[in-house]
Amino acid sequence: MAEGGIVFRTMEESDLPAVLSLEKDLFPDPWPRWIFLEEVRDRSRSFATIGEESGKIVCYGIVWIVGAEFHIANMAVRRDRQGAGVGKRLLDHVLDEGTRRRCGVATLEVRPSNARAIGLYRSRAFREVAIRRGYYRNGEDALVMLRELGPASE
Ligand SMILES: CC(C)(COP(=O)(O)OP(=O)(O)OC[C@H]1O[C@@H](n2cnc3c(N)ncnc32)[C@H](O)[C@@H]1OP(=O)(O)O)[C@@H](O)C(=O)NCCC(=O)NCCS
Repeated sequence: MAEGGIVFRTMEESDLPAVLSLEKDLFPDPWPRWIFLEEVRDRSRSFATIGEESGKIVCYGIVWIVGAEFHIANMAVRRDRQGAGVGKRLLDHVLDEGTRRRCGVATLEVRPSNARAIGLYRSRAFREVAIRRGYYRNGEDALVMLRELGPASE
């Protein structure tokens, strides 16, 4: 699917070297390879997507499907493409998939210090619903954000 020059497709095992190198660049506590491997090998409860521009990966997202909850576990945009609307397109793509799968809500955790990510989620109607104390490895709290999904919430 092409959205504003970005082509979205399913993440494959062969994408992992490129994805891991972005992951290490973008996160203080990057996911290890085995987590990504599980996501691409068992798709029964997860949705793993890649966005490409001119055949190069610019973003990716991983979502866990827990009953009616579409839990966005990982969202990332290549550093040199941040701040240009790629994250919004990725999030829209992910939310469309949640709606398509008839999930009732989308949820996620985010660091309170991550103003850009919080701004992105708020711009798509997510609201803060809880704080998980000491959630991250460095002891930082997580903000839990949620929004309803489905045609009625658009
Ligand atoms: C967070 C991230 C996914 C956002 O993607 P992005 O492509 O940079 O974001 P976009 O350009 O699509 O911006 C979307 C919205 O975010 C908000 N935003 C962007 N930069 C912002 C900033 N510096 N401060 C506050 N809000 C900001 C705005 O609402 C913006 O919409 P607008 O341009 O219409 O005002 C990306 O920056 C990233 O990968 N960061 C590193 C990894 C990460 O933190 N992932 C999220 C973990 S929860």
